[in-house]
Amino acid sequence: MIIRSVIEGVGSYLPENIVTNAELSKRVDTSDEWITERTGIKQRHIAPKGQNTSDLAIAASKVALEAAGMDGRDIDMVIVATTTPDNTFPATAAKVQAALLKPGIPAFDVQAVCSGFVYSLAVANNFIKVGQVGTALVIGAETLSRFLDWTDRTSCVLFGDGAGAVVLKAGKGEGTSADRGILSTHLHSDGRYFDILQADGGVSSTQTSGLLRMKGKEVFRHAVVNLAETAREAIEANGVEFKDVDWLVPHQANLRILDSTSEKLGLSKDKVIVTVDKHANTSAASIPLALHQGISDGRIKKGQLLLMETMGGGFTWGSALVRL
Ligand code: COA
Repeated sequence: MIIRSVIEGVGSYLPENIVTNAELSKRVDTSDEWITERTGIKQRHIAPKGQNTSDLAIAASKVALEAAGMDGRDIDMVIVATTTPDNTFPATAAKVQAALLKPGIPAFDVQAVCSGFVYSLAVANNFIKVGQVGTALVIGAETLSRFLDWTDRTSCVLFGDGAGAVVLKAGKGEGTSADRGILSTHLHSDGRYFDILQADGGVSSTQTSGLLRMKGKEVFRHAVVNLAETAREAIEANGVEFKDVDWLVPHQANLRILDSTSEKLGLSKDKVIVTVDKHANTSAASIPLALHQGISDGRIKKGQLLLMETMGGGFTWGSALVRL
């Protein structure tokens, strides 16, 4: 018998305000045609002033807790994956804890940009596996619209705001790929690529949060290779094959990246959960948002094998193989 971290509930939240490509093309020199063809994105949700990352995180968490049949008192630890915290400190997780959870539990943020959710899932999984906590709330939440350069058409069209959350609970498994729960996580980084996808400021360097800067073509090139590699290691580590995977639930950056990766892996497009068209890239929120979308529309079912994979600034990248 081994301990597995089982996903007991999933939730998400998207701000009400939707901005279409056509609306965006009134603000910057772009078009629906260009954005759709190069990225697959049709629209994104943008949080109004006053609605912060913690508000999105709390809203998503309420849905996840309800889905798990739990309330805040049942949670032993909370992690928020975010690049767009409400404040430089304390952690956004502190606000979630104060709003929903017991005082005294560990609450912290993880900063791994678009890989933040998979990184956080790995951290929570390890806390559960060593028996330090019995439950964990893991959230990806972002208000990326706040640190975009809205005059830079090469980046501002790509991102959106939102949040997704999962409730993990310790369960028992046999140590095989038939177990429910997180079967493996693999995390990577390579800081030599720091400048390719970054905020051009920070507390220490400029005393500002900076704005998002990206060399899109280089990110694209690395993403396709790194995502395929980390997907393969997840499969190999568990003695399964790609044909056993029910759903690829990838980080949603660009439809062309999703298509190239699934093609490289020999996975049919029908097995890929795609939300980038409606949400754009919501960084750490994109995987739990996609997971919740797939569950809500009835495609993803309990007992199915899910492969999550992601890549983001740092570079950071990683994967998680999960049986729901
Ligand atoms: N609207 C219209 N034209 C645009 C544009 C926009 N929003 N953004 C760029 N262009 C123009 C460029 O200026 C360029 O024009 P030029 O040929 O006259 O110089 C042309 O379109 C092609 O630009 P290019 O950068 O070569 O396009 P691309 O095919 O590489 O697509 C991205 C650009 C950003 C969509 C693509 O590189 C990408 O998705 N990269 C990965 C980004 C990503 O996922 N980042 C997050 C990872 S977590």
